[in-house]
Amino acid sequence: MTPDVPDVPDVPIGPISPIGPVYSPTHIVRANLVLTPGDGIGPEVVSAAVQVLQAVADRFGHTFETRQYLVGGCAIDAFGTALPAETLQAALQADAVLLGAVGGPRWDDPTSPVRPEQGLLKLRKALGVFANLRPVQLYPELLGASPVRPERLQGVDLLVVRELTSDVYFGEPKLRRMVPIVGAPVGAPVGAQSLRPVEEIQAIDTMSYTESEIRRVAHVAFQLARGRRKKVASVDKANVLESSRLWRQVVTEVSHAYPDVALEHILVDSAAMFLISRPASFDVMLTGNMFGDILTDEASVLTGSMGNLPSASLGDEKNSLGLPRGLYEPIHGSAPDIAGQGIANPIGTIMSLAMLLRHSLGLPAEADAVESAVKAAISAGCRTRDLGGEMNTSQITAAILDRLGSFHGGASVGL
Ligand code: IPM
Ligand code: MG
Repeated sequence: MTPDVPDVPDVPIGPISPIGPVYSPTHIVRANLVLTPGDGIGPEVVSAAVQVLQAVADRFGHTFETRQYLVGGCAIDAFGTALPAETLQAALQADAVLLGAVGGPRWDDPTSPVRPEQGLLKLRKALGVFANLRPVQLYPELLGASPVRPERLQGVDLLVVRELTSDVYFGEPKLRRMVPIVGAPVGAPVGAQSLRPVEEIQAIDTMSYTESEIRRVAHVAFQLARGRRKKVASVDKANVLESSRLWRQVVTEVSHAYPDVALEHILVDSAAMFLISRPASFDVMLTGNMFGDILTDEASVLTGSMGNLPSASLGDEKNSLGLPRGLYEPIHGSAPDIAGQGIANPIGTIMSLAMLLRHSLGLPAEADAVESAVKAAISAGCRTRDLGGEMNTSQITAAILDRLGSFHGGASVGL
């Protein structure tokens, strides 16, 4: 796609900004974004990110049309399903989707056939976003907020590439059924023996990977490693699981196309340990869906709070700009314990917005500006409670907006 001729001059950030560089927008974008705030703190953190989006539109002259849709528990309450058809349809037509969080105690009944998380999983599957990028970057000023000793954290800069649309999350069969209790008198006439039940419930999930599912996400990891420190650590449980042995085999095959990138295979239990004992040794960590879910929560505390971590989920589908149509979400959950109090940390969602600007809208200068504004706010001591500070969500968002500067060029976010 040919970029439009820029009609906005370079916008120097005002003297109040500590960011420094002058950003040069190369083209003006008109984009259609779907917002799915979801449950718990989701609406609070997405609304903070929308203010940042508005500021980016103002300053750089873009037009972002945004529409809000239900997903998760709030969608179950309104429509009886965690992913209403209109949400799915809007997401499929969007240039990118920004999601808050799903879930909460209200919908936690383990026997319920509808659950908030189904909405998120169906959305990921329907959008075909098989590669979930979770960067774990430290803010030097937050070293003390991490439970890990600062000397171990020096140099931590890793990117987890988590496969997102397969594995035990989606494998079939996935069901409950009745099975005979081992050792029970199967077939004995009812009441003839004792009151012992002869059957019990068995629940089955299936861990499954195909070669092509592994291959495509492995290519993403190796390609991203090329732009970084050229190391891939592939995580599996190949000493026990057949799907992991296939994972290891296919990742090794893919690695031959990237002779400049070093590959190591690590068992997931060791990886969990090394993330604490030598986190700085990792560059790109490639994982399956389940292991990646667990390891990224672990990795997030290296940064002081899981509230800081963003993610981008990408696939092969392109948007109206010819770029990947992505799903962007913070890695944290809905935090029902603090929902509605206005104290949630919005940094994970604002940094997810930066990834959206970079990957789905092709706006690296704008993404840099947002990331620099977040870093500058943290350097200046701005902290929400999860980071040991006193600021609430609006105060830290205002601090980030201050550092982003503003430019009133007549562009708008249509809300
Ligand atoms: C995540 C979350 C989700 C997942 C849940 C909410 C389904 O934990 O994005 O890490 O397990 O993928
Ligand atoms: Mg998780």
